Amino acid sequence: MYAEEPPIGFDIVEIGEVQDGWEDTWRDFHHGIVVGRLWVGPPWDTAPAGALSVVIDPGRAFGTGAHPTTRLCLELLQDVVPSSLVDVGCGSGVLSIAAARLGFAPVSALDIDEVALEVTAANAATNGVELELVTEPPPAALAVMNIALDVVERVLPELPVERAIVSGYLERDEPLAPGWHGVERRVRDGWAADLLERG
Ligand SMILES: C[S@@+](CC[C@H](N)C(=O)[O-])C[C@H]1O[C@@H](n2cnc3c(N)ncnc32)[C@H](O)[C@@H]1O
Repeated sequence: MYAEEPPIGFDIVEIGEVQDGWEDTWRDFHHGIVVGRLWVGPPWDTAPAGALSVVIDPGRAFGTGAHPTTRLCLELLQDVVPSSLVDVGCGSGVLSIAAARLGFAPVSALDIDEVALEVTAANAATNGVELELVTEPPPAALAVMNIALDVVERVLPELPVERAIVSGYLERDEPLAPGWHGVERRVRDGWAADLLERG
């Protein structure tokens, strides 16, 4: 797994030194982004009128929406007809919550990280959306999986779904997924996401 992009523009400080006002600096850095019909942002920012809002407190789990791979998945989610969905590697729950906002239902979410599940549940409650937290992927029409190339390749064959939006890898990479073919590819800042279909 990769780390979320580092904040650009922070001064480098010595280890152990705490800058005054760091909380405000953190908040200044985190503001909402618009991806198609969706706005994804922190609780201290405001969604533009008419946008489908996804409020994510940048906390302990990955997924503020700002990473290129998350954005690419958010774009691809808007290119398909809403259906049942399972979010594998939900992190903060950003993709599950966005999917629920877009009309996907039922939406199930799972992660190997307990903290991610707690954060997803809290974010779902903040956004007033219904998600099912699961330990195994249930049958669904679509999966979304923004993890890493090796995990995507390992998990895809076992997923009880017909279509999958996958990401977490670079533009030069393409998932090796026997029994699946590519329907659409999006790239951003050197990262890629694919909509795949069985067959
Ligand atoms: C890059 S984050 C993506 C978070 C969020 N879905 C997003 O798009 O911003 C990947 C998440 O996948 C989880 N993860 C890693 N390997 C996994 C696996 N084999 N099964 C389920 N979740 C996994 C990690 O714990 C992490 O929360």
